[in-house]
Amino acid sequence: MQSKRRILLIIGGGIAAYKCLDLIRRLRERGFSVRAIMTKAAEQFVTPLAVGAISNERVFTELFNLDDEREIGHIRLARDCDLIVVAPATADLLAKMAHGQANDLATSVLLATDKRVLAAPAMNPRMWLNPATQRNVAQLKADGISFIGPAVGEMAERGEAGPGRLAEVPVLIDAIERRLAPRDTAAMPLAGRHVLITSGPTHEPIDPVRYLANRSSGKQGFALAAAARSLGANVTLIAGPVALPDPAGVTVVRIETAAEMLDAVTQALPADVAIFAAAVADWRIAKPKSEKLKKSAGSEPPALKLAENPDILKTIGHRSKDRPRLVVGFAAETENVVANAQKKLKSKAADWIVANDVSPETGIMGGDRNTVHIVTRDGVEHWSDMHKTDVAEKLMVRVAIHLGQQSADIA
Ligand code: CTP
Repeated sequence: MQSKRRILLIIGGGIAAYKCLDLIRRLRERGFSVRAIMTKAAEQFVTPLAVGAISNERVFTELFNLDDEREIGHIRLARDCDLIVVAPATADLLAKMAHGQANDLATSVLLATDKRVLAAPAMNPRMWLNPATQRNVAQLKADGISFIGPAVGEMAERGEAGPGRLAEVPVLIDAIERRLAPRDTAAMPLAGRHVLITSGPTHEPIDPVRYLANRSSGKQGFALAAAARSLGANVTLIAGPVALPDPAGVTVVRIETAAEMLDAVTQALPADVAIFAAAVADWRIAKPKSEKLKKSAGSEPPALKLAENPDILKTIGHRSKDRPRLVVGFAAETENVVANAQKKLKSKAADWIVANDVSPETGIMGGDRNTVHIVTRDGVEHWSDMHKTDVAEKLMVRVAIHLGQQSADIA
């Protein structure tokens, strides 16, 4: 049994500080112990009480607190861990670190430590791109501090977008795990397996500026890719247009249309497992226009003639050459969820179907949670409502057990 790996998390004062609660929870689920230091500014965004409750450890905030110093001095705090993670690393905190300031507990610990430090910046894109911040980051890199992120995307402030978002929690965890003692990846349950996953919607062009689409967010497929990766698989994720960052350690192929998705899937074969989580458009525009459709006074709106798209799951399910050993489809239904999924299991020659109810009132399409039913030839398992990342982890463990059993049967 591996001894607990200890993280000292320094929480800076930015809006992304709230994500630390999820980070701590996920790290603890993976067997890390997490002790937190919060800056004064961080306390404006999350309370030490919440951080303490989630980490189940005392939270440190003050440099000159006699009780803290007697119990565990700031020098020991700096040394009693395997890795220091600064998240969110604000522009101010990075500037102080780059100049060796030590005017609060967080910066004093950072100056006193002999441990590795991983910084996860989060700030407004202009602050990140400002030459002063870039100078500080270059200096810190030269000093041996490693960085993860920032990710590119929408900011909390309206209308602001660019590099500055805190890296997503799974990406942070992957970065943390990679920086700690190398794990025996050969012993991981999906080591040496190739897992292929489709995810997100497809966009089918009407003309150069318009397209047909659906409400799929890609969250379930991206979570599956991260979960497969964390069990040691080589993962290829074929993703339609979604606003999600690449999961760490995963090969991501971004496509737009169903035809491109089928192409990318075929090229990525062979695979041990293929999971079709994408909400592929069933139809495309038969003849997309090469120029923008124009209105003209008094004329009828254009009629859009549709053509059927290839069914990617069905194509791969029925393939005789290179068919993955385990083919898993999803079924997005709004009625008769299980019965319809059972029909899809047969008609698409899948081994399992993960069925879910995507009626608008469930909030599943685009949301963070999912309630799924696993339909196989042997029966149906009903899983309770859970976060999409939990569905992903549970499903990938089921995949690993299944492949393990199959290998044992072959032997
Ligand atoms: N699928 C696919 N290619 C398509 C359509 C669907 O690979 N052109 C896959 C999906 O990724 C999913 C499964 O088939 O794994 C079922 O998708 P779903 O949208 O639930 O069903 P459809 O096959 O589109 O049928 P319907 O819309 O009639 O329910």
